[in-house]
Amino acid sequence: MSKILVAGGCGYIGSHTVIDLNDNGFNPISADDFSNSHERMVDGISTLLERPHVNYRVDLCDMDATERIFEENPDIEAVIHFAAHIYVPESVDRPTKYYRNNLNNLLNVLDCCEKYGVKNLIFSSSCAVYGNTKVLPVTEQTPFGEAECPYARTKQMGEQIIRDYCTAHPEFNAVLLRYFNPAGSHESSKIGEAPILENTHLVPIITEVAIGHRKSMTVFGTDYDTRDGSCVRDFIHVMDLAHAHTKAVEFLLHKKNDSNCEVFNLGMGNGVTVLEAINAFENVTGQSLNYSLGERRAGDVAAIYADTRNSREKLGWVPKRDINDIVKSAWDWENNKTWLYEEV
Ligand code: UFG
Repeated sequence: MSKILVAGGCGYIGSHTVIDLNDNGFNPISADDFSNSHERMVDGISTLLERPHVNYRVDLCDMDATERIFEENPDIEAVIHFAAHIYVPESVDRPTKYYRNNLNNLLNVLDCCEKYGVKNLIFSSSCAVYGNTKVLPVTEQTPFGEAECPYARTKQMGEQIIRDYCTAHPEFNAVLLRYFNPAGSHESSKIGEAPILENTHLVPIITEVAIGHRKSMTVFGTDYDTRDGSCVRDFIHVMDLAHAHTKAVEFLLHKKNDSNCEVFNLGMGNGVTVLEAINAFENVTGQSLNYSLGERRAGDVAAIYADTRNSREKLGWVPKRDINDIVKSAWDWENNKTWLYEEV
């Protein structure tokens, strides 16, 4: 069983990827310092793995501690690098936090790959690299736009760092995965989205309002040039997204890559408006949501969705779950996640 190091493997997308890798015959271990995840996520992961999950509680900005992971695991065949700060508004307020963490930990991982002979890397990038593009859907060839925030810039810089590293190391292989709007949870409700920091993403806000953790929510903008006036996003189920990482690992280990740095968009390839997402939630769950129509949120693009031909054709990745599956699983998780916060 190939051993895969999942950096940030107790976080939202990382934990789902650990499960999907395991389900497909890989041996995932993780490095996660719990800076934006709960230690008890390890329990949920272990339950699904049906064995204790191996996590190194390490801040990957700490080079010595990072090296020890590679020393103890000389059989790592690939690293999937999720570990990053991810909130757009926080990155605007605290840019140095984002640059320091998101770039230093990537540099440390790359240096460890070099020193310990790991030849494969999957990097979590974002549709944020495209900026406020007007050409839809976006393909992997759509040029980087002006970054809307420091978070987005760390993803642009991260991609560039990896490209330069790949040029310097022709024997090294990287896949850059640009996520659109990940949402939803594992169907078991044993793991799901549970950040430490306040969530600003749409689907968890919907479920938090429905369950009563928040009184109400606002639809940010209803005067966009879209079919119902609200923003259009490409929501992708986290389990489909997780599976794309397994596909990317197989792609690299089976040497199917044409170049040593390949890029893939990961979305459903179609847009769903904010109001459609709310309607889907109400229809699927029978809950009526307390929301109001409000002003536009600063920094939002009107519409963005992916051209996914490349990931479908080259990775053989076919996402299966739609917005109804997303809101259903997110709601199930919202109703089940209380165990995460209970005292042991
Ligand atoms: N929205 C609301 N009300 C809310 C929260 C969100 O109407 O309470 C709307 C937003 O205005 C936006 C849509 O829901 O139109 C989606 O917003 P999210 O915050 O869930 O997601 P974003 O599209 O802003 O963020 C995504 C990724 C980021 C990435 C960004 C780049 O999650 O990682 O795209 O555009 F940086």
